[in-house]
Amino acid sequence: MNAGILGTGHSYPEGILTNADLEKIVETSDDWITTRTGIKQRRKAAPGEYTSQFAVRASQEAIERAGIDAGDIDLILCATVTPDQILPSTACLIQAQLGAHKAAAMDIVAACSGFVYGVTIANPMIRAGQIKYALVIGAELLTRYVDYTDRATCVLFGDGAGAAVLGPVEDGRGILAARIRSDGRYEEQLFAPGGGTKGGFTAETIARGDHFFKMKGNEVFKVAVRSMSDISKQVLCEAGLKTEDVNLFIPHQANQRITEAVANMLKVDPALVYSNIAQTGNTSSASIPICLDECVESGRVKKDDVILMASFGGGFTWGGVVMRW
Ligand code: ACO
Repeated sequence: MNAGILGTGHSYPEGILTNADLEKIVETSDDWITTRTGIKQRRKAAPGEYTSQFAVRASQEAIERAGIDAGDIDLILCATVTPDQILPSTACLIQAQLGAHKAAAMDIVAACSGFVYGVTIANPMIRAGQIKYALVIGAELLTRYVDYTDRATCVLFGDGAGAAVLGPVEDGRGILAARIRSDGRYEEQLFAPGGGTKGGFTAETIARGDHFFKMKGNEVFKVAVRSMSDISKQVLCEAGLKTEDVNLFIPHQANQRITEAVANMLKVDPALVYSNIAQTGNTSSASIPICLDECVESGRVKKDDVILMASFGGGFTWGGVVMRW
C-alpha cells in the first residue's frame, strides 16, 4: 500500500499589497520587483487575523475533497514559522477548530520546506499502517515578520495556507519517492534572531527589529537553485523516473528567477512548471500546497500524472517529493 494525496485546499487573506503600494512605502519600483522576482502582488492578512484561521479553511476544503470526516484524521502536521502563539502548537489549535479529536498534532519548523517535510514524515507512517489519514498543512502570515523599511525583503513575502489530506492509495500511485535535507551552518543567510531564548524578547529587541526576517538574498539564491535541482534529481532517480516523465513541476515559489533556473538545470519544459508567484509572493511553507490545490482546481492535474515538488528555505532546509496522481 502506498500513501498519496486524497484531497487539497487553500485559503488566502482578502487583503492585497501590490507593487504600487510598496512603491509608496520603500524606495523601489514595480519594474525592479517584477524583473528581479516575478512578483506583482502578495496577500496580506488584516490586523486581528491569525495563521490558524487560514489553515482551518484550507484544511476543511482538503478534508471535504478527500471524502473523509475530521474525526478520521490520525495525524495533523502544520508547517509554519509564523505560529498563532508560542504554546500550544498551531497544529493543536487547528485540531480543536476542525474537531479532529482523534489526531496527534504538532508543528514542523522547516521554513519554506515545511510542507515537503510534512509529506515526507507522514508517508512512511501511512505505508506502515501506523496511521490511516494525515492532514499536512503549510500556513504562514509572513507579513507579520517583514520589516517594511527593508526593501530587499519586504517585497518578497505574502500570506496564505494550503493543506493536503494523505491516505492509503493503490500500489504504483501516490508518493513514489521523498527526501528531506538541512544544513544549519547557513543559519545567518536567512533568519529572525529575536523572540527566542537566545535573542530574547524585550522592548529593546523589538525596537531593533530582531524579530524581522533578515536575508542575504544572493547567497540564498545560489544555494536554493543548486539544492532544489540536486534533490529533484535524487527523488526522480529513486522513483526510477527521468525528467521527461514529469507532467507537472511545482517548485517552492521563492522567486521566479529561482524557479526558472531550477527548471533550466533539470531541463523541465517551462510549460510544465507551475508558478503563481506573480499573484501571491513567497508564502513559505504554504506555497507548494497552494500551487497544488490551484492545479487540482483548474484541472491541470490529471490521473496518472507524475508531479515533482521541490522546496528550499531558511535553515537551510530543502526537500523533494515525486508522486503519481
Ligand atoms: N527595489 C529596488 N532596489 C532594490 C530592492 C528593491 N526592492 N532590493 C534591493 N535593491 C537594490 C540593492 O540595494 C542593490 O543596490 P546596489 O547595487 O546599489 O547595492 C541592488 O538592488 C541589487 O541587489 P541584489 O541583492 O544584488 O539584487 P538581486 O538581483 O540579488 O535580487 C533578491 C535580490 C530579489 C532578494 C534576490 O537575491 C533573491 O530573490 N534571492 C533569493 C532569496 C529569496 O527568494 N528569498 C525568499 C525567502 S527564502 C526562500 O523562500 C527560499
